[in-house]
Amino acid sequence: MSLPDLIVRPRRLRKSPTMRRMVRETSLSANDFIYPLFVDETISEPREVASMPGVSRIPLSHVGDAVREVAALGIPGVILFGIPAKKDAIGSGAWDTHGVVQQAIREAKKASPETCVIADSCFCEYTDHGHCGVLHGDEVDNDETLANLQKEAVSYAEAGVDIVAPSGMMDGMIAAIRTALDAAGFESLPIMSYAVKYASGYFGPFRDAADSTPSFGDRASYQMDPANRREAIKEAELDMAEGADFLMVKPALAYMDIIREVKDANLLPMAVYNVSGEYAMIKAAAEKGWIDEKRVVLETMLSFKRAGADLILSYHALDVARWLNDDRQ
Ligand code: PBG
Ligand code: ZN
Repeated sequence: MSLPDLIVRPRRLRKSPTMRRMVRETSLSANDFIYPLFVDETISEPREVASMPGVSRIPLSHVGDAVREVAALGIPGVILFGIPAKKDAIGSGAWDTHGVVQQAIREAKKASPETCVIADSCFCEYTDHGHCGVLHGDEVDNDETLANLQKEAVSYAEAGVDIVAPSGMMDGMIAAIRTALDAAGFESLPIMSYAVKYASGYFGPFRDAADSTPSFGDRASYQMDPANRREAIKEAELDMAEGADFLMVKPALAYMDIIREVKDANLLPMAVYNVSGEYAMIKAAAEKGWIDEKRVVLETMLSFKRAGADLILSYHALDVARWLNDDRQ
């Protein structure tokens, strides 16, 4: 029997590597990445995070080298998380001029002035109860936390940070920080908002890394319910109206639909956070020999781009940059 004349043949465009290269819609580059660094004030040698193979807490004395390594690989930015020596009920270490993140910012900018240094701005690493703000009873008080966020952001700005990235999901956090930064003369400093952040089981390994597990309860009264989609657009729109310069969706892998919808709903550059649990799953399966790590990581990162991400915060960033460089040779 003869085949129809009009059969459509998409395979024509998949015939050779060159042809595939010509019709490829999405690509990855080291420019797409931001590498997270955990800086621990209480250690003098790096200490690997058990649930995140390849990721270590580093002492302040290693920040310069770490940032230079990131820069040498062509990655434009780092995001800093601090583990302070002392914690208290309100997380006052977060706005201490000599706090761990403030010192790390200065070290990073000294070592590599062209690297974009971002400071995660929250309180869970600084409070003795591990919640993301000031407690009243068992509740995080939104507006008291905003006042502290203003002090924290200005303190990071004074230390020389390039972007502040509030991650606590407090209502009004972008407007509050914008107002404080402007009043202190930092009207040119951008804000990257963790605008769409879900109360997620995927943050588990991070809380070991950053020593920020809540001592009671969970974060469901401030982070979003994973069941919600329209609320993601609402959060994104609010933060945009309050003056956010970048939006973020977090976690990334289980929220690809949200990444696409938030992207289509506004014109801001969008970051996605490929979080600790996503990293741990790939590393564990790769260690067992069950998946090809390089292939699966690159496919996952490319898929974030395809879904709409402009920037990817990822613990895989150094490996990805090395692989991309090797493949170019
Ligand atoms: C702090 C913060 C968290 C992450 C980034 N900033 C943890 C949390 O909200 O509990 C998670 C990052 C990761 O899992 O890799 N608010
Ligand atoms: Zn927090």
